[in-house]
Amino acid sequence: MVKDKSISTDLLIIGCGIAGASAALEAAKSGLRVVVITKNLTPEESNTFYAQGGIVSLGHDDHPELLKEDIIETGDGINYPEAVEILSNEGKKIVDDILIKELKIPFSRSSPDSLDYAQEAGHSRRRILHIKDTTGKTIEEKFIKVLKNYSNVTLLSDHTAVDLLTVPHHSKNPVAYYKETQCIGAYVLDNQNKKVKNIYSPFTILATGGCSAVYLYTSNPQGAIGDGYAMAYRAGARIVNMEYIQFHPTSLFHRDADGFLISETVRGEGARLKTKDGQTFMENYNEKRELGPRDEVTRAIYEEMINSNSNYVFLDLASYAKIDIKKRFPNIYQTCIKYGIDITKEPIPVVPAAHYCCGGVIVDIWGKSSLKGLFAVGEVSCTGVHGANRLASTSLLEGLVWGTRASKYIASHFDPGAPYRDSDIHEWYYPEKEEEIDPALINQDWLSVRSTMWNYAGIIRTRKRLERAKADLDYLRHRIEKFYKEARMDAKVVGLKHGIQVAQLITYAAINNPESRGAHFIKT
Ligand code: SIN
Repeated sequence: MVKDKSISTDLLIIGCGIAGASAALEAAKSGLRVVVITKNLTPEESNTFYAQGGIVSLGHDDHPELLKEDIIETGDGINYPEAVEILSNEGKKIVDDILIKELKIPFSRSSPDSLDYAQEAGHSRRRILHIKDTTGKTIEEKFIKVLKNYSNVTLLSDHTAVDLLTVPHHSKNPVAYYKETQCIGAYVLDNQNKKVKNIYSPFTILATGGCSAVYLYTSNPQGAIGDGYAMAYRAGARIVNMEYIQFHPTSLFHRDADGFLISETVRGEGARLKTKDGQTFMENYNEKRELGPRDEVTRAIYEEMINSNSNYVFLDLASYAKIDIKKRFPNIYQTCIKYGIDITKEPIPVVPAAHYCCGGVIVDIWGKSSLKGLFAVGEVSCTGVHGANRLASTSLLEGLVWGTRASKYIASHFDPGAPYRDSDIHEWYYPEKEEEIDPALINQDWLSVRSTMWNYAGIIRTRKRLERAKADLDYLRHRIEKFYKEARMDAKVVGLKHGIQVAQLITYAAINNPESRGAHFIKT
């Protein structure tokens, strides 16, 4: 196996959901040469693409201070105030300037003169901009279309980031050890020819999204296995708050639905949760009922499922909606119809699913991580905005704001000297006898990781369950590492290595934090 040609660029961005795409757009406008890679076959495929609810702005009777209070109340008070200030004060302007004026995103309107503001749990005002129930898809497609017009942006699909390139770790020069550790790009696997190329860049932005697909049941696409957290951890960047995994209360319960999300905006339009025998129950748990904080609603559903020995509860929109359901939620309507459920007439069977990681690579207000040259934006990062639990529909906004800020910072600190060449850096090591990968082994390892995480490090944790998860994952990790060293280079093997590492990061963080807070709930 020969090494593929290396690439040098001014800025490498790994991932192109809203965070990566907005970073790419800002950098492109400032004239930097940008390479954006994604492991997916098309650049549009990302967590952003599936976001239904919307993006936080400010509604009619709203104020940044009110948004700030809602974010901090939902986050259980451990949010980073400076980051919350930035999101609350700058968010609306960035939405107006980039999404509305520049990209011309056609947000839904309540009248010809007014945008429509949706309601979600934890918000004291209606303030969520949306495009019916396909907000993320519309935004993502527009971003990619616009990026394709920039000749200084190269979009590489079907390219999997294997590891960050760091000096001195990957340097051939022993003198490099005297210098500050620095990220200088990434080893990237071209999935078509199975070769690893070195992409060199003085600045690398991780925008790889979240890790909820390390759980058996998730609202995320199966690719959300936390590549960015794993690579950043191995490279030595600081990672925090990984125990705060948010579970979305309502994903569609159906064998073939793959965690399809029933957006919180459905509850925002009045839908009520009911047990299988038709009783509402949220009034017994929280005075805000269905619009209480997401972690509380999730735990209430979990408890009701256990009490009634059922695998799901119902979400009843048909009996309560004052809107035209088909018009407001066309995607949810169509998808449910496909599975034999008419949401205009009957309740929807739902179950909680892993949804969002509130922790990640800790970054400052410009997206800078603790490792020189490495930035992180969007879900993979921890700006501190979300604290212990994320307020609904703040994630697209956080990605947009920090994506833009990171590239503004990079553009104003860019030094065109390219410090590293191939001759300084180790080539990717391929084992002499590359073993063919056996999909049965990979599938079984994933099943073990995912069920361990769901059962032992999931919605309700106990010390015993977490200790058991740790033991099982440690053993599995050992086997996967061996497998990785001997196997033929393949995205599936790389993904498994990333995934097991992230599962460990979550589990270790949960063990080390005995205090239940927000999305981390530990029963004593
Ligand atoms: C939803 O539409 O319920 C998801 C919104 C979010 O997670 O922010």
